[in-house]
Amino acid sequence: MLPLERFRLDGRTALVTGASSGIGAALALALAQSGATVIAAARRIDRLQAVVTDIVAAGGQAHAVELDVTDSESIRAAFDRAEQLADTVSILINNAGVAEPSRFMSTDAASRDKVMATNFEGVWDLTQEAARRLLAAKRPGSIVNIASILGLGAGVGYASYAASKAAVIQLTRVLALELGRSGIRVNSIAPGWCVTEMNDEFFASDAGKALANRSPSGRTGELHELVGPVLLLASDAGSYINGVVLPVDGAHTVALV
Ligand SMILES: NC(=O)c1ccc[n+]([C@@H]2O[C@H](COP(=O)([O-])OP(=O)(O)OC[C@H]3O[C@@H](n4cnc5c(N)ncnc54)[C@H](OP(=O)(O)O)[C@@H]3O)[C@@H](O)[C@H]2O)c1
Repeated sequence: MLPLERFRLDGRTALVTGASSGIGAALALALAQSGATVIAAARRIDRLQAVVTDIVAAGGQAHAVELDVTDSESIRAAFDRAEQLADTVSILINNAGVAEPSRFMSTDAASRDKVMATNFEGVWDLTQEAARRLLAAKRPGSIVNIASILGLGAGVGYASYAASKAAVIQLTRVLALELGRSGIRVNSIAPGWCVTEMNDEFFASDAGKALANRSPSGRTGELHELVGPVLLLASDAGSYINGVVLPVDGAHTVALV
């Protein structure tokens, strides 16, 4: 097989959570363009339909499936639907996430619980559902968790978010050990700042522009810059990569200031 062919995902079914916007929508398109049948999952079904329309127009295969990652019944139903529409999910991109930035002393328990339920427990529950089905079918798989540089370093105002992403990174490592011998790899990427609906107001502000300027690359990341790393981890090109957290951040996490 030629080197680039190992990145192809033909015949695979890939479920992308949070595919209705931002990073998830970009990854859904990229996985479909690499040959996977994509299950684009999130709560906003109208936005998912638009993503699916774009993928089909680009020659890919995709289906919109409603999913709330904080609801275990919704998770089971989404995997059932994926199997009806395509096949057993063998690539899971745990991308859905929320950020509710606020200083620790002003963050209430409801906000903390929402961030943890979405960013951490959602990853836990989806991965368990995916792995249960892969193990039953005796099939290999690849799980890619979208963590964050805030799972590796700290930022004022990000107590719940940073804790949730650090938890995802440690979960990634433990699951790599527990599931690897069954052919299921579990990896993470830790993106640096990319402008999406999660933060576009901030990056339009003077403080946002200053933050981008201060970072080693002097800019925010582009969504297409996450595609190569995710494809590497999701595909057979990364078949001996298991348990890593790969920063994709223009050296943000290696800077001392
Ligand atoms: N942008 C950045 O700078 C950056 C940096 C590092 C990491 N990340 C991570 O990248 C991921 C994607 O974020 P983004 O920047 O692309 O922001 P975004 O455009 O706001 O996307 C967030 C996605 O998560 C989905 N989501 C939220 N709660 C959900 C739930 N309960 N069930 C299902 N889906 C849910 C949303 O879909 P619905 O509302 O339709 O459900 C949406 O598609 C997140 O995990 C984020 O933490 C982002």
